[in-house]
Amino acid sequence: MSFIKKLGTITAAVSVAALMAAGAADAKNFKIAVGDSAGSAQEALGIAFVKALEEKSGGEHTATLFLNGQLGSEQDTVNEAAIGTLDMSLLAINNITPFSPSVGVFTLPYVILSLEDAEKLTQGPIGQELVENTIRDAGVRIIGWTYTGFRRLTNSKKPVSSVADLQDLIIRVPKNEIMIETYKSWGINPTPMAWSETFTGLQTKVVDGQDNPYLTINAMKFYEVQNHVTNLRYIFSIEPLIISEAVFQDLSEEEQQMILEAGQEATLASAQFLRDSEAAIKEELTAKGMEIIDPENDEAEFIELATGAVWPQFYDSIGGVEKLNAVLEAIGRDPVQQ
Ligand code: MLT
Repeated sequence: MSFIKKLGTITAAVSVAALMAAGAADAKNFKIAVGDSAGSAQEALGIAFVKALEEKSGGEHTATLFLNGQLGSEQDTVNEAAIGTLDMSLLAINNITPFSPSVGVFTLPYVILSLEDAEKLTQGPIGQELVENTIRDAGVRIIGWTYTGFRRLTNSKKPVSSVADLQDLIIRVPKNEIMIETYKSWGINPTPMAWSETFTGLQTKVVDGQDNPYLTINAMKFYEVQNHVTNLRYIFSIEPLIISEAVFQDLSEEEQQMILEAGQEATLASAQFLRDSEAAIKEELTAKGMEIIDPENDEAEFIELATGAVWPQFYDSIGGVEKLNAVLEAIGRDPVQQ
């Protein structure tokens, strides 16, 4: 082979290697903090997101789930994503509210009354407005929505079917003002505690009870330390997948599009996961020894106390009563009269 030909072959080989190296350097493996354990709705959404991202990027990009609060408490992960030291986090919306109060409209008691309400709100213009508010307020972008079901009350002491039954119980709540005020409207002073400390708090009986959806109660093995469940429906738990806005803005337009589309696919998969699994998981909890009861009078007293006392306290932080009314209207409910 002539010197020139040889040189050509070497140059071509070097350029392919350089291209491959550049491709490899661009390949991303996003770190996703997940508050809950294996088997949770958060994990199911996370798995669907990773699969969709790998498919859309032809295998170039992926993401790894760090389950069970390994990367910190849910509220801490918002701070870390905001400064760009963490790529993504999957966490309950009530743990985002302290950083972006307008998302509190989804945590107000007895506003969201079904999975269909939750889907309509999160996937419509109201959800989009909250995505933008959260970027502005907290430096994180919501790219997917996990639907986990209603938060049910559990405790280790006794059956609770009325507000009166609650009175001598110590209940853990997230560090979320709306949830704290909701329990106060029912006459008790709850104990705010990080999610990552909750199982131990229940196990050591620092607290008697807590609330979370069936899927979460099961995935977190709360049946090992709690035996009574009350079918409250005061909050429908929505658990967003967030990405650091700094990380998002560093991506190419094409990569951003892939991330958004993967988030959308994962959102749809999450709704299906809840539809497919909630009834069976409720039965599983009974089989594991939990006694599940309904609140008396169709929850009327809980509803009246919470909506009457709590909604007006948070009109300002959610952006005005008109924001609540827009939500109510979007799900076909009557507005609050002013
Ligand atoms: C909480 O109670 O803090 C959250 O619902 C935890 C979760 O992410 O499931």
